[in-house]
Amino acid sequence: EARPFHHVEMNGMISVAHRGASNFAPENTQSAFRKALELGADFLECDVHLSKDGELIIMHDDKVDRTTNGSGYVKNFTLAELKELDAGGKFHSSFAGEKIITLNELLEEFYGETGLLIEIKKPSMYPGIEERVVALLGEYNDLNSIIVQSFDIESMRKMNTLLPELEVALLIKPSIQSLSSQKIIDLTSFATYINFNVSYVNKREINQIHNQGGKVLVWSTKNQGWVDKAYQYDVDGIITDFSIWPVEGPIQL
Ligand code: G3P
Ligand code: CA
Repeated sequence: EARPFHHVEMNGMISVAHRGASNFAPENTQSAFRKALELGADFLECDVHLSKDGELIIMHDDKVDRTTNGSGYVKNFTLAELKELDAGGKFHSSFAGEKIITLNELLEEFYGETGLLIEIKKPSMYPGIEERVVALLGEYNDLNSIIVQSFDIESMRKMNTLLPELEVALLIKPSIQSLSSQKIIDLTSFATYINFNVSYVNKREINQIHNQGGKVLVWSTKNQGWVDKAYQYDVDGIITDFSIWPVEGPIQL
């Protein structure tokens, strides 16, 4: 069911569809991204790895095992081999036959339709992945609707150097207790967004990031109780499996 999206209801926050509308469709697939668009998400979040033949592959894990019928590391498959896998059946039989897609395919379908929040996963596993992302994004003139993010701070520093007009976001690991003032000044010098798990951020950090001209997205993905905290904290957006918020109770397939 499509739901109208209202920024007013969201208190001005943007909605980011975590791995697409991953509550409703297999994560990081075309079905999940199309569903998120239908639900009115402002951004589609996706995760990127590199295949054996250097293609940018949309998948969360570094192995294909959890979400497909295959087994092994993404980096040991060519794109053609990855395309033979079923990325939908494990989520629900109605999605059997769903294909893994590339970042290029995601951009071809969704660029200009909605924002894209592209997470580079484990960049240290894939030397040169930043250059490949930059080469692909370089084909698009207007990068205003694209953000690239990572838990790897140095990788995002590099992205900012390679393509200064691109906004980058840093994901802060829940294991980090809190960011010092000095750290926030450093990170906001090149990153537009500092993104946290909502349970591991405090108001002092958010205020300081805002004072430095930065923005904050929080994620929780499935827990419906967290949104109150996001409102109270006056964050700039939420990253959720439901694509929009609020939703009306638990949703079944
Ligand atoms: O965008 C935030 C979130 O995606 C980070 O965690 O593990 O879902 O990639 P993960
Ligand atoms: Ca992610």
